[in-house]
Amino acid sequence: MTSGLQIKDEDCGFNKNLFCVPKHYEDDLERVFIPHGLILDRTERLARDIMQDMGNHPIFALCVLKGGYKFFADLMDHIKALNRNTDQSVPITVDFVKTKSYCNDIPTGTVSIIGEELSAFKGKNVLVVEDIIDTGKTIQTLLSRIKEYEPQMVKVVSLLVKRTIRSSGYKPDYIGFEIPDKFVVGYALDYNEYFRDLNHICILNEKAKEKYKL
Ligand code: IMP
Repeated sequence: MTSGLQIKDEDCGFNKNLFCVPKHYEDDLERVFIPHGLILDRTERLARDIMQDMGNHPIFALCVLKGGYKFFADLMDHIKALNRNTDQSVPITVDFVKTKSYCNDIPTGTVSIIGEELSAFKGKNVLVVEDIIDTGKTIQTLLSRIKEYEPQMVKVVSLLVKRTIRSSGYKPDYIGFEIPDKFVVGYALDYNEYFRDLNHICILNEKAKEKYKL
């Protein structure tokens, strides 16, 4: 396990006017925090690391929706490219599970797991693909459910891990970026379902948090 690309507490990202963002979100964004290109470049390397460790057996990849769908799709594309272009190649099967634990930018304290058929994991090498780990509660709840079905191996990759005092101490096997304790949106991460349709990972301004508040 490595700690991923470290983004320091004092790093505040980039001026949004230097990037292309959708017109409908222009007034809502404070800064571009992680540009889309950097996300893709880091994901390419994660795919290589995962294949080095798990590439000897078929992989059962589990996407944690909704926030994980972009990362999942791009990670799978990189893994498929490795399968096509290197001597090592393994079949990948995919499945999806939906979790919910936030309202506005605040954790609700409960984790719901919706629509899962986790019994398919028995004896498999499972790769859980998450968008972000904050307290660690969502992933730990999901992992304990998966483990009831006796997979052969479970590895977790998370695009982002927050450095926060709320953390349970849980660390995934593979980490894209370790980020400061900020609420981020974009690249399928949402604020009350908005901003999933934004390529870059961004920080919202306070006006936007009010505008889209439930
Ligand atoms: P945890 O259970 O506290 O680790 O929270 C993980 C879940 O909360 C993620 O799967 C996201 O859905 C959501 N989440 C946590 N932090 C953020 C954030 O900064 N932006 C958007 N969603 C977040």
